[in-house]
Amino acid sequence: MTAQESGTTAAGTETLRERLLASLVTARDRTTLLTSCVEDPDLTAQHSPLMSPLVWDLAHIGNQEELWLLRNVGGREAMRPDIDVLYDAFEHPRSERPSLPLLPPEEARKYAAEVRGRALDLLEGADFEGGTGSRLTEAGFAFGMIAQHEQQHDETMLITHQLRTGPAVLTAPAHDPVPPYTGPAEVLVPGGPFTMGTSTEPWALDNERPAHTREVAPYWIDTVPVTNGAYQAFIADGGYDTERWWTPEGWAHVRRNSLKAPLYWRREGTQWLRRRFGVTEVVPPDEPVLHVCWYEADAYARWAGRRLPTEAEWEKAARHDPVSGRSTRYPWGDADPGPEHANLGQRHLSPAPVGSYPVGQSPLGVRQLIGDVWEWTSSDLAPYPGFTAFPYREYSEVFFGPDYKIMRGGSFAVDAVACRGTFRNWDYPIRRQIFAGFRTARSESA
Ligand code: AVJ
Ligand code: FE
Repeated sequence: MTAQESGTTAAGTETLRERLLASLVTARDRTTLLTSCVEDPDLTAQHSPLMSPLVWDLAHIGNQEELWLLRNVGGREAMRPDIDVLYDAFEHPRSERPSLPLLPPEEARKYAAEVRGRALDLLEGADFEGGTGSRLTEAGFAFGMIAQHEQQHDETMLITHQLRTGPAVLTAPAHDPVPPYTGPAEVLVPGGPFTMGTSTEPWALDNERPAHTREVAPYWIDTVPVTNGAYQAFIADGGYDTERWWTPEGWAHVRRNSLKAPLYWRREGTQWLRRRFGVTEVVPPDEPVLHVCWYEADAYARWAGRRLPTEAEWEKAARHDPVSGRSTRYPWGDADPGPEHANLGQRHLSPAPVGSYPVGQSPLGVRQLIGDVWEWTSSDLAPYPGFTAFPYREYSEVFFGPDYKIMRGGSFAVDAVACRGTFRNWDYPIRRQIFAGFRTARSESA
């Protein structure tokens, strides 16, 4: 990192302040769109027991901003100590939140806006040198963390919008057409060590740290995510009815729940249709498959004679530069994501056809690692060697263990501020409402 990037010069500090401001404003614009495109009853309704009412996300966004920026960084008193318990994600499961005495939509908007006004005042005078504010404000971390947190909930709210039934309220431009992808189906990633995780990315969260060396045996990885068309072949071949493709837990899960296709898919005659943000359409064969759980991804891979990549294999494919031997921030290098690199930030409301974004490919030619769909890996959420929880145990540490599977790379629904080559996401292996798909791998010897 240069002195300018780390904010150690006066000009660097001002650039950092502007970037933080822009990240906060971008997040709030998205939140406003997602919470103003429906009438108030839709904000307080429970669209699925898997999700909070949208109005909970809105006030929770404000409450976390108040907690971390106004109280922890700014040293202010709580504005509404009575509401903290309502918006603490660990106090009440999502399914219970609609029955809580939540702030009604107008009050939630007002609360979030008041917090934001004070947070921007704080940002104006903030010291990022790590002197007075220490680690929390060093390189703008707390402000970056709060912008990421809001964007994470903006993705969560988009998931709720997709679960919601009724006519479309959200629209976005279609993807530019791309020629059918005709490149190689897989590439060989050479074995050997690479640097996983980061110690220098200023807004990286605790679970991405520290940078450490990982030894990875040579493996092949898909150059593009698995498509709807390929997944349809698995269905047509009786994939959901063939026990040997599934782990025992996966098999029990698909039987018990009669799963036959990705969430939101429906068979009509000889066609598969899907419902997407209130519109029913023919499933496009060249798009990455979306709304499959880990068990389905794992079974598909076994059917294809392959397996899911480990988390380390995913990150090596995304970050290892075979020429310099260095790990880059993104597959295309160290530049921040632009619209030419990846499908991020809800600019579109679907993944792009496979083969899109050639500018964003890795040195070995692996495409769409960043954006489009979160990619399931075979790995459980575990701490890196030397992990320390920061700034709170409930971000990552309490989730470590075998219950959660890692996803990498980010979806079309997440903003660049909350998506990096090192960024780690996780969920239960049964979850399908999230914007997750996958790609497959195989060991070189296999
Ligand atoms: C990292 C996406 C699993 O949404 O549960 C939001 C992010 N943490 N608020 C989640 C998060 C606290 C988290 N994930
Ligand atoms: Fe949260």
